[in-house]
Amino acid sequence: MNIVSTLSATMEDFRLNLGGTELKPLVIGGMGVNISTKALALEAARLGGIGHVSDAMLPDVTDRLFSTHFTALKAKFFRHLAGLGFKLGMNFDTIDIARHTRRYVEDVMSAKTGPGLVFINVMEKLTMNDPLKTLKARLNAALDAGIDGISLSAGLHTSSFAMMEENPRFRDAKLGIVVSSARALNIFLRRTAKTNRLPDFVVVEGPLAGGHLGFGMNWSEFSLPSIVDEVLAFLKSANLSIPVIAGGGVFSGTDGVRLLERGAAGVQVATRFTVSKESGLPDPVKQVYFNAEAEDVVVNGISPTGYPMRMLRQSPAICSNAKPQCEAYGYLLDKGDCQYLRAYREQVAADPSVKAPCIAEKTCLCHQMRNFKLWTCGATTHRLKETSVKLPDGTWWTPPAEAIFNDYMTGRNDEVMHPTLEDAMASK
Ligand SMILES: Cc1cc2nc3c(=O)[nH]c(=O)nc-3n(C[C@H](O)[C@H](O)[C@H](O)COP(=O)(O)O)c2cc1C
Repeated sequence: MNIVSTLSATMEDFRLNLGGTELKPLVIGGMGVNISTKALALEAARLGGIGHVSDAMLPDVTDRLFSTHFTALKAKFFRHLAGLGFKLGMNFDTIDIARHTRRYVEDVMSAKTGPGLVFINVMEKLTMNDPLKTLKARLNAALDAGIDGISLSAGLHTSSFAMMEENPRFRDAKLGIVVSSARALNIFLRRTAKTNRLPDFVVVEGPLAGGHLGFGMNWSEFSLPSIVDEVLAFLKSANLSIPVIAGGGVFSGTDGVRLLERGAAGVQVATRFTVSKESGLPDPVKQVYFNAEAEDVVVNGISPTGYPMRMLRQSPAICSNAKPQCEAYGYLLDKGDCQYLRAYREQVAADPSVKAPCIAEKTCLCHQMRNFKLWTCGATTHRLKETSVKLPDGTWWTPPAEAIFNDYMTGRNDEVMHPTLEDAMASK
């Protein structure tokens, strides 16, 4: 296509075909912890695209939604292991994990309407002090509860398919993986070959995405279009026909069209929906996202997962002195330890007189994400203000997800929606 036709095309001119299901080529990516809410995912499905809920810290999320007491009971049960020592034996009960996952997913799926799909985003890096057992419980419970599909992220997921092999829905649910290189995809395909099942989709996430990045601190040397080309070439050379969904930095419908014309089957987006009405971020935090400038968006290494993460530099989670709270949470424990717990322990050992040391190099991701104090975001966050308007009280209007979804689908000429105050007041 030439430049003129690219600019005049819209994402409505394309369709995403996932194993015979025809969808709008727009996926709202998973955003933990409960930023991509049930309401947001359901809107994407109602409008004919794909929405995601996230399984990050689901037992704690269900506590808040359904007034259950998983987190409080866990904290009480492991009270004797409080302190900065290793947390060996501080394990999650897999029956509980499955129960909470089923309850949450059943609640979401029972409310689903429209022609689209709802997927759950499952991150391998949530090691939960017993990576294999807990991941198996999470994946199978989501399938049992009727989720349409699963996107496997934050890891290579070399055994995730095998963990679901016995599940009656293993071959009918849509299963895919998020990768940032053809190499990672190749490893995944080779390791899962024995299950005799290909992924139904591959999300290729570039370096401008929100959340954790699948790159080192040299992330800026990579570009989404080149990785998409690389993955498409790899699939072609392997004679595989798997839809590729490209994400990271797609801000307008025309950005999406460029990737679709390159051969992507769909695009995955998230940042623009962080400030939607349906997003789980508290309203004051949405205002911080709107007000962010380009220099506020940083990539750093404070996540104890070891992956670089993009966030607003104003995030209270940066250089926080929160005590490690593994008894209540512990979603990142592995062999009884976590990088934050270790950093905190070392800091206290270095100077025992400091009661609440500020840990600059790491953060307690569980506590901070759970409390919306780590403001992770994509590289385009500073542009969100272009898509909104200030209300008479001086705050930014938070658009409904439907308006953002339709703006992606119908936007052309590199333009994004510019709502007027009347539009905003009419939809309030
Ligand atoms: C606030 C936020 C939280 C995110 N959390 C997750 C997550 O929990 N798991 C994941 O795989 N990706 C996560 N992502 C990545 C998105 O799912 C998506 O692929 C990516 O951000 C798309 O790029 P964009 O934000 O530039 O549109 C997150 C992104 C944002 C903005």
